Amino acid sequence: MNRLRLGVNIDHVATIRNARGAGYPEPSRAAELALAAGADGITAHLREDRRHISDADIDVLADLCLKRGKPLNFEMAVTEEMLGIALAHRPHAACLVPERREEVTTEGGLNVVAGHNHIAQAVQRLREAGSRVSLFIEADPAQIETSARIGAQVVELHTGAWCDAFRAGEHDRAQAILQRLRTGARLAGELGLEVHAGHGIDFATVKPVAAIPELTELNIGHFLIGEAIFTGLAPAIQRMRALMDAARAEIAA
Ligand code: PXP
Repeated sequence: MNRLRLGVNIDHVATIRNARGAGYPEPSRAAELALAAGADGITAHLREDRRHISDADIDVLADLCLKRGKPLNFEMAVTEEMLGIALAHRPHAACLVPERREEVTTEGGLNVVAGHNHIAQAVQRLREAGSRVSLFIEADPAQIETSARIGAQVVELHTGAWCDAFRAGEHDRAQAILQRLRTGARLAGELGLEVHAGHGIDFATVKPVAAIPELTELNIGHFLIGEAIFTGLAPAIQRMRALMDAARAEIAA
């Protein structure tokens, strides 16, 4: 069974910094610590409204990841402005996400079916610049098939609904959503896509997701940064890593 990579999203270190308009805590320091604690890469979302990560953060994080030989996964909306920034940095990976200014977080997947012309052009331009392009989508067959057709190399399946249903104690709904994630991952794998997953994952919800065999990467942020307040960032990442590895070992057994 392949080892599952862990991408740590450090956006919310910037949220805390920006709450006071101060220069700390620094997302780059969190990125250094995360990599030292076993993260396989760093994920950062430069939102159009710059509510957390700033343009300067992306400059620093891109340099840091390059120096450490670790991938930067640049999350971005499909806009000309963000494409310009991504094309200037040529990050290892670009993850295209939907974005609405009024949302608190990325609420659902990208509608690749409805926006396929526009998204296909962005995928092509990013691929030509050498980035691996990932589309953040719901585990819906039409979205997965369209992602493969327009040339994305990766799909990241949105796990938010699974995590919400699990935490709400809605067992049957949670299992149905998990089943959809499993079926979606299988279809994506059959279509030759690399399969990632993320959003809303914590210690309680990670193992069933990590046990989906086709997955190669999880991206986790908000919970880890919150947990860092209580235990420190490194122990939080190490525990998440251990749970992911345990889930993989259980399916391999
Ligand atoms: N993956 C993608 C594409 C995201 O947009 C986010 C949130 O920015 C995450 C993963 C991480 O989600 P969370 O912060 O809830 O762990």
